[in-house]
Amino acid sequence: MFKSALRAPALRPPSPAPNYDDLQVSFGRCLRNHGFIERFYEILLASHPAIPPMFARTDFRGQRLALRRGISMAIAWASGSSMVERPMKHMIDVHSRAGRAPVEPALYRCWVESLLATIDEFDTDLTPALRARWREAMTKVVDAFAQHY
Ligand code: HEM
Repeated sequence: MFKSALRAPALRPPSPAPNYDDLQVSFGRCLRNHGFIERFYEILLASHPAIPPMFARTDFRGQRLALRRGISMAIAWASGSSMVERPMKHMIDVHSRAGRAPVEPALYRCWVESLLATIDEFDTDLTPALRARWREAMTKVVDAFAQHY
């Protein structure tokens, strides 16, 4: 086997990549109002009956921090940052068919809608335009997850 085949390929960001700094700022506002990630998981787990059993053995203390970093990383990736290609690939591998937490592509719609519903509650400066940009960026992210399932 060729050596290159053993190396995990980096995950190229979408191109062209808009600047999504406004989403990082919005996410910062969400996190300042405590309980954002907890509320997101509450909404996500209620969004589809297939989801709660997937988290049956999850230690949510560690998981909250992982997701907080994961969302920030996802925004950077959608903005074209090559620095997060490897950690993004790792996150995607965890959710692939062969990964530790496989996620059927059809469930990603629930993820995006749950995230938007949580942002609605937590970002007091949210506008319809900013909300549409969140949807656009996170759809690119979950499309990449789904493609690598
Ligand atoms: C419906 C969609 C999703 C479901 C049901 C789901 C479910 C899970 C589950 C069950 C775990 C393992 C928790 C454990 O270790 O016990 C996990 C880990 C994780 N998920 Fe998701 N996930 C989804 C989408 C996403 C998306 C879109 C992202 C990123 C933007 C993400 C980021 C992460 C991260 C960072 C971890 C921790 C990985 C690690 O431990 O290395 N997840 N997820």
